Amino acid sequence: PHRVFSGIQPTGVPHLGNFLGALENWVALQNQYPTVLYSIVDLHSITQPQDPDQLRSNILDLTASLLACGIDPEKAILFQQSQVSEHAELAWILGCMTSMPRLRHLPQWKMKSGQKNEGSVGLFTYPVLQAADILLYQSTHVPVGEDQVQHLELAQDLARIFNNHYGDLFPEPPFSFILTGSTRKVKSLRDPSAKMSKSDPQTMATITITDSPEDIALKIRRAVTDFTSEVTFDPETRPGVSNLVMIHAAMAAISVEEALSQARGLDTGAYKKLVSDAVVQRLTPIRHEIGKLRSDRAYLEGLLAQGRKKARELAAPVLAEVRHRVGFS
Ligand code: TYM
Repeated sequence: PHRVFSGIQPTGVPHLGNFLGALENWVALQNQYPTVLYSIVDLHSITQPQDPDQLRSNILDLTASLLACGIDPEKAILFQQSQVSEHAELAWILGCMTSMPRLRHLPQWKMKSGQKNEGSVGLFTYPVLQAADILLYQSTHVPVGEDQVQHLELAQDLARIFNNHYGDLFPEPPFSFILTGSTRKVKSLRDPSAKMSKSDPQTMATITITDSPEDIALKIRRAVTDFTSEVTFDPETRPGVSNLVMIHAAMAAISVEEALSQARGLDTGAYKKLVSDAVVQRLTPIRHEIGKLRSDRAYLEGLLAQGRKKARELAAPVLAEVRHRVGFS
């Protein structure tokens, strides 16, 4: 049986990278598979310092954003990770099967632990918790952006290690973790060699799904390109322009070829107007919907409570089996 699982951190409003790398796929997959779970991964978010009130509010705001992007709570189980304690428990067990060297090269640690690698234990074992999220539901499909591929590889390794040690329980490759759709990487608008990231301190580098049309136009107008005025698509040699072409095509739901043909005769300056129009057009209804949903905190909390109940029903028997096999019963 197919099971889809994915997660997003409640660390702020989703940006175009989240939207195109993950959320678009999330919406498509909820219509294709019977069991689909999307988690607001608050346990992951505290690997970086969070203000408690801000976190509480971010969780509900993110719930509103996910609904506005098209996640349907009738089709997908939408829940908060920390409300299903099985995640943390499985993470402990998997952590005992993971070597320290295996984790040292993973991107989250390398990027965020600082020069001296003095990050927290939680930041170091972040990918183990992610593996627990995935395996807890015996997931077969995990729609994520390209930046998460190494984390999925760890989850696959841990599935294999567990199965070898305790007998088959978790789906293993090639049946697991199909990266659906075109795995996308949206680049920073200020530095096209870096990914667009929520933790980027430069506000001009990211477009969030609630940015005003004026802000979107400004950020795209200022986006770093290069000294060639013609619009072409070559992510290797022209990452800046190519990022804009990719964003344009994805937001207008057209092919890259079609985007390039619309750009014919335009220099990058004029083309940017086309790109920002496509982004604004796509995001405007979403922004309005978020505005409506955000204010009904009780409704959002109620949805998460329902999601928690459904998620636990699936998680509990798997964790019980894990506990039994490990020898806890
Ligand atoms: P997070 O919250 O950083 O991002 C959520 C999703 O957005 C994708 N994404 C991008 N895609 C393309 N280009 C970008 N610039 C870009 N930035 C972010 C991410 O790939 C992700 O799919 N560790 C995960 C959360 C997580 C998870 C899981 C995911 C926890 N447990 C289990 C899948 C399965 C994360 O930090 O996502």
